[in-house]
Amino acid sequence: MTLEELRKRAQELRAAWKKEKGEVTSPEALEAVRVKFLGRRGQLTQLLSTLKEFPPEVRAEAGRILNSLKQEISRELETQGAQLALETKKARLAAERYDLTLPGRWRPLGHLHPLTQVRLEIEDIFMRMGFDVATGPEVETDYYNFEALNIPEDHPARDEWDSFYIDEERLLRTHTSPVQIRVMKSRRPPVRIICPGRCYRRDTPDATHSPVFHQVELLWVEEGLTMANLKWIVEEFVRRFFGPGYEMRFSADYFPFTEPSAQVHIRRPGGEWLEIMGAGMVDPAVLSEVGYDPEEVTGFAFGLGIERMAMLRWGIEDIRLFYQNDIRFLSQF
Ligand code: FA5
Repeated sequence: MTLEELRKRAQELRAAWKKEKGEVTSPEALEAVRVKFLGRRGQLTQLLSTLKEFPPEVRAEAGRILNSLKQEISRELETQGAQLALETKKARLAAERYDLTLPGRWRPLGHLHPLTQVRLEIEDIFMRMGFDVATGPEVETDYYNFEALNIPEDHPARDEWDSFYIDEERLLRTHTSPVQIRVMKSRRPPVRIICPGRCYRRDTPDATHSPVFHQVELLWVEEGLTMANLKWIVEEFVRRFFGPGYEMRFSADYFPFTEPSAQVHIRRPGGEWLEIMGAGMVDPAVLSEVGYDPEEVTGFAFGLGIERMAMLRWGIEDIRLFYQNDIRFLSQF
């Protein structure tokens, strides 16, 4: 190759370099172009390797031509590399930018079911009055659900608690009163407990009846308790739970396990009377059955419907709304 040819070749390479670098938009592409020209087998590198073939008198000049091109390309590579790195960084920062003025994303928060809220509140009121919370099984024996409560097999009161039987001996408890028996059999008086829980009856569903519902049982056994104590507890409880404006009616009733027996109705302002509980003085036969001496202690008990309390508090007219899991209903509490 002559010096002239080398000059021409260098100019072509320079033009090719200018064109290619003009098209580069990323650091990766720039690196590819660098390899193409200055890499170990790059076009300029190959041209440089021909220098030794030039005769000594022109070799210096040939070297100058190629080295000046090499320096030019290296310089430009450096500036363009720095520029591309800056642009890439800017683009990344722009993509990662947070707009702190945007409104937050709303995530719905769950809450307790209204029946659970009412149960917890009832528990709280009675725990403050010194009652313990007790529980018992939902699958009960005939003995605890009926017999120990003074309801023998042929007693007409069994009709009122039309039951779901599991086999000859076992049934789904129809009320929380069997827990009274379990607690009294395991403790000596004084006894002061409440027991919240689920109950089951073959009741036809309507606005105030559900085949599965919840009760809170209360039992207080001690020396010298009378109906007046029962009435006070109920009045105090109703006052604390509902607050002003609610009316209460105490009337006579019948339960085989209490004597005398009563029922309590409540009316919310502008509403209908609704029965919330059965109550009474524990029958001496029940006290004897659990090994207590009816001459020594007396007691009273009640069984309260949790659904009915919730209906009265919020003015809900159909008990079935509690079990339908309609979020439009539930989200109001
Ligand atoms: C009883 O269950 C008695 N064990 C209560 C009792 C306890 C009396 C201790 C004396 C001493 P009753 O069947 O009336 O009684 O039910 C009591 C309350 O449970 C009712 O006032 C009502 O609030 C609720 N209840 C009864 N059946 C249903 C039902 N199917 N759906 C919703 N609530 C009910």
